[in-house]
Amino acid sequence: MPELIPVLEPNEISNLVAQVALKISSDYQDKELILIAILKGAFIFLSDLVRCLSIPVKVDFVGASSYGNSTSSSGTIHLTKKVEIDLTHKDVLVVEDIVDTGLTLSYIVDYLKTYNPNTIKVCTLIDKRARRCKAIKIDYTCHMVSKGFLVGYGLDYNDKYRELPGVYRLKF
Ligand code: IMP
Repeated sequence: MPELIPVLEPNEISNLVAQVALKISSDYQDKELILIAILKGAFIFLSDLVRCLSIPVKVDFVGASSYGNSTSSSGTIHLTKKVEIDLTHKDVLVVEDIVDTGLTLSYIVDYLKTYNPNTIKVCTLIDKRARRCKAIKIDYTCHMVSKGFLVGYGLDYNDKYRELPGVYRLKF
């Protein structure tokens, strides 16, 4: 069994989410914001984020998969669920759990651009820099780490650990 090293306690996550929500609420005042969360990992972050926002929003999901049972991206992204809401001329904010190589986010942003949104920005819970190979602008970041495989608060390893209320680094 891998060891779980604490990275973010639940109360730290709450504070980080509240701070980023304040910024988003201010930046999108008087706009019709649509949040698009990337499944599966972003489901907990999204649900906490929307409840901290002070502006009305619409929500949809896209599904992407690239990891299989491994801790490194296969490099090939599969779209497992398409967006269902109309994004044409709308302000879109993509909500991601963690950005690693940047391949998933870059693929999803390119895909969403095909719907001709007015603006498209990105918010991530965790920005993990060491393996970034695709330059991608991240507009809102809650927490940065350089490396390590993280689980909890929606993040999984082999579909396990998503339910943990904090974020942990897996030590194999
Ligand atoms: P990227 O395409 O390499 O940027 O990887 C992004 C996706 O891989 C995220 O949406 C996660 O689903 C998954 N991922 C990347 N790093 C981690 C991690 O440390 N723990 C859990 N999932 C991760």
